Amino acid sequence: MAPTRAEAIAFVEAHTTLARPPLVPEVELYTATEVTPLWQVTQGWLDDTGLEPPYWAFAWAGGQALARFILDHPETVRGKSVLDFACGGGVVGIAAHHAGAARVVAVDTDPLAVVAASLNARANGATLATERRDLLGDAAIEQEVVLAGDVFFDARMARRVEPWLRALATRGVTVRVGDPGRAYVPGDFVPLARFEVPVPPDLEGSAWRSAVVLRPPEEAPAGARSATIGR
Ligand SMILES: C[S@@+](CC[C@H](N)C(=O)[O-])C[C@H]1O[C@@H](n2cnc3c(N)ncnc32)[C@H](O)[C@@H]1O
Repeated sequence: MAPTRAEAIAFVEAHTTLARPPLVPEVELYTATEVTPLWQVTQGWLDDTGLEPPYWAFAWAGGQALARFILDHPETVRGKSVLDFACGGGVVGIAAHHAGAARVVAVDTDPLAVVAASLNARANGATLATERRDLLGDAAIEQEVVLAGDVFFDARMARRVEPWLRALATRGVTVRVGDPGRAYVPGDFVPLARFEVPVPPDLEGSAWRSAVVLRPPEEAPAGARSATIGR
């Protein structure tokens, strides 16, 4: 059975500490300091509740790169409505808030991620609306900007997320992806920036990841965008 919100909050707070991700020190996140113990401690509880492993307990290299990019290029989101898709702990959405987004919605399918993202938002004085939702395939989203940190992590997810992001870009939505060199990232997405990100070796198998911020090639030039975004 899914945990109550109070149980989820207690779980996040019990197994993480506030820490600053190396590439985005402006932000503090409830973070697991060691990977393996959290995976082991949570295994039984996660099995009982049917939840995913605690992806929300780390700022993934793709998410950190995208958050860094947004803070360095606030014009990407300033004054706009923004979706942090597959938000995990919400590092990207919090960065968008800090960069001046008009409104940020953070969505994830994992109920614990949604709770972690709202706790993280509160810790950073950021306003984030959080929703547990699977938006893949929904072309009628209302946001002007979609940010997606580390979403090409497996073949099944990539098969769903790639056409969705391309379709949004075709409709005039600004799409930015942060990717740490996953095998399933589309080869024709256009790189905009690259960052070297320190990562936990027991999570990623190395101490650094080279992460790229990309956009779909379908994105129309700024002047050519439709005035009916999301329709
Ligand atoms: C590798 S984590 C990245 C989290 C965050 N964006 C970051 O970069 O730190 C991938 C996230 O995708 C979420 N996820 C998987 N399938 C999803 C879907 N269909 N819709 C929304 N989120 C999804 C997982 O729950 C997880 O939080």
